[in-house]
Amino acid sequence: MSVTSLYEAADLYDLVHLGPWKGEVEFYLRQARRWGSRALELACGTGRLTVPLAAHGLAITGLDLSPAMLARAQARAAAAGAAVRLVQGDMRDFDLGERFDLIFIPINSLCHLLTRSDVEACFRCVRAHLAPPGRFIIDVFNPSLAILGRDPSRWYEVGEYTDAQGGRVRLTEQNRYDPAAQVNHIVWRFEADDGRRREHRLTMRQFFPQELDALLAYNGFALEAKYGQYGEGEFHSGSNQQLIVARAA
Ligand SMILES: C[S@@+](CC[C@H](N)C(=O)[O-])C[C@H]1O[C@@H](n2cnc3c(N)ncnc32)[C@H](O)[C@@H]1O
Repeated sequence: MSVTSLYEAADLYDLVHLGPWKGEVEFYLRQARRWGSRALELACGTGRLTVPLAAHGLAITGLDLSPAMLARAQARAAAAGAAVRLVQGDMRDFDLGERFDLIFIPINSLCHLLTRSDVEACFRCVRAHLAPPGRFIIDVFNPSLAILGRDPSRWYEVGEYTDAQGGRVRLTEQNRYDPAAQVNHIVWRFEADDGRRREHRLTMRQFFPQELDALLAYNGFALEAKYGQYGEGEFHSGSNQQLIVARAA
């Protein structure tokens, strides 16, 4: 079976990511009230977050590499009657010819930049597109040593979902972590009731907390806040996510 990127199977992405997480939209709306509503979402995917934010009045542009993900974002925006500008592009190398009050990379998309030079190229583009006093927001995992240390030959349960036809789909995953590169090589296996099986890969660089703060600092950003959840509770060792608000230093 060929194992292609999850982002070529946008329907399966949406099967698992039904909508915004609890408190996520409200978090970005609070940031927009503080810093302004011209927003750029990097790696916007199928518009899971883009479209609800547009519906709440943000003037939002979404940029993504995958035509399949963008096609679903376009359909989602049309269905909601939301005005969203969608651009196919690479978050490591883009020039949109305008500046934004808020630039954000939600739910772990930064993890698709596998090398330091990729991350630094992205941060350079972000700096060039921020309008003072704009803010840059990153939302990534706080790496879980338990998950990274899993047995790479085993399949682990993720969940069960209902597809558009009402069928049940079971999702399991396998991962092999490369500690030198800090890259987690994940395969998601989707098994439908009728026995049909599809496998897709997700390759995710892990950013350890001190490393991410340093990467931002060395690339010209001042860390303004680091939260551990959308409710803006402080980041701590037990936090599952690193939610950073930074500004150009
Ligand atoms: C986890 S999904 C996030 C989608 C969306 N932001 C959301 O919140 O549901 C990651 C997205 O990153 C996109 N992506 C991966 N590498 C990229 C790159 N270099 N530039 C732009 N988008 C990229 C993928 O196509 C995918 O849509």
